[in-house]
Amino acid sequence: MTLWNSRLGSDPSKILMDFTVSLNFDRRLAKYDIEASLAHLYGLKEVGLISQQEFEKISGALKTIGDEISTDVFNFVDTDEDIHTAIERRTIEIVGDVGGKLHTGRSRNDQVVTALRLLVKDELKQIAERVVELNTVILNRAKEVPDIYLPGYTHLQRAQPVLLSHHLLVHGWAFFRDLDRIVDCYSRVDCSVLGAGALGGTTLPLDPKTVKDKLGFKELFENSLDAVADRDFVAETLFVLSLVGIHLSKMGEEIILWTTAEFGFATLDDGFSTGSSMLPQKKNPDIAELARGKSGRLVGNLTGFLATMKSLPLAYNRDLQEDKEPLFDSIDQIKLALSAFAGMYDTLQFHDTTMQSSADSAYSVAIDLAEWLVKKGMPFRSAYNLVGSIVKDSIQRHVALPELVLAHPDLGEPALEIFEPGSSVRRRTSHGSTGNEQVKIQIKNYEKKLNEGKKQLLKI
Ligand code: ARG
Repeated sequence: MTLWNSRLGSDPSKILMDFTVSLNFDRRLAKYDIEASLAHLYGLKEVGLISQQEFEKISGALKTIGDEISTDVFNFVDTDEDIHTAIERRTIEIVGDVGGKLHTGRSRNDQVVTALRLLVKDELKQIAERVVELNTVILNRAKEVPDIYLPGYTHLQRAQPVLLSHHLLVHGWAFFRDLDRIVDCYSRVDCSVLGAGALGGTTLPLDPKTVKDKLGFKELFENSLDAVADRDFVAETLFVLSLVGIHLSKMGEEIILWTTAEFGFATLDDGFSTGSSMLPQKKNPDIAELARGKSGRLVGNLTGFLATMKSLPLAYNRDLQEDKEPLFDSIDQIKLALSAFAGMYDTLQFHDTTMQSSADSAYSVAIDLAEWLVKKGMPFRSAYNLVGSIVKDSIQRHVALPELVLAHPDLGEPALEIFEPGSSVRRRTSHGSTGNEQVKIQIKNYEKKLNEGKKQLLKI
């Protein structure tokens, strides 16, 4: 029997249930629904809508249901449309008619959003912790390789040498921005909507503020219609997670390239690689590839849900039930990906010699030659043109660049120091650059940001 059996004459058709039931995915909200129901019940008692005795009876049943669900002995029945109806049905089953008082002044519309907000808060915290964990791995790896350099690329063409530590920290800075976004997003999720009712509140003397405090929410809804219709917090969470996914995808793409025989900059630990079913020699970067692949799915979850939200009339519409599957999927995928990356990155082996010899090509210090001339007073564009023409000459005539530099009247012997391997990064002193001294400062700032990140976590 459904909860609305008194209003609708017949039982729901099987196809209606098959199509509309959300139990298979929203049972994940069980523990949050029970937490919210207990707080709602407490609120009812505080304003005198239920007695102390009724409060104890119903809350006892809710705790029993919590245990039944967590130990997998809860009996779901065919008419349980979702986890919320299942819990109410079972409450009444355990304590009798008095259990019907649980839903006093409450609708599933405010109930669902409350449980979902509690879940998202919990999950965002766990995701933030994993971001911090990955950023700690990145820091440790960067500190291990203070002087190692490799080619820096633009357009995937070698551009100029950069320090490996400088390169690795790039990902960490992106994740710090993600962390800020998670914390910021969390502040908007942190709002209690219990007490909004179905859409317009209630004639009963509820006290939503007490319930909000009991649930540990920072804010309280201002508008009951907005409270039940708003899913910005879901869209925002999906966006934040998509961006984390895109950052992981970019990082993964780099690992995919670096571990090719063509690059040979790194080797994955066996525990973080897969083999081939046919080719015995293969060692594949599947974690990195799946992070790249799944980032598309995360973006799909976001855009799909934005399309669901678009043009919905106020207030609650059943369309909104479509928020949960993409949200849960993105949460699960990001948590796994962050942990997999922390392990993969922690155990990744770097090949310093290959990296450095790839960066030692004479052409990669062409800009240093031009700037050497600038320091002697030549306008930059003239210096650029001079160096550009000797690079062209070197390529066309197959003459090594240093030879042409030595022979050039504006350059000559003193300019040859520019080709000394590794000297390029040492010469860089500008703020935030890849110069050794600058990267030391950067590491200090990164460490500070990491500690701030850890403190931010304690606050949410
Ligand atoms: N499972 C539904 C959801 O997630 C519950 C809300 C149903 N509310 C209603 N008015 N039919 O949205």
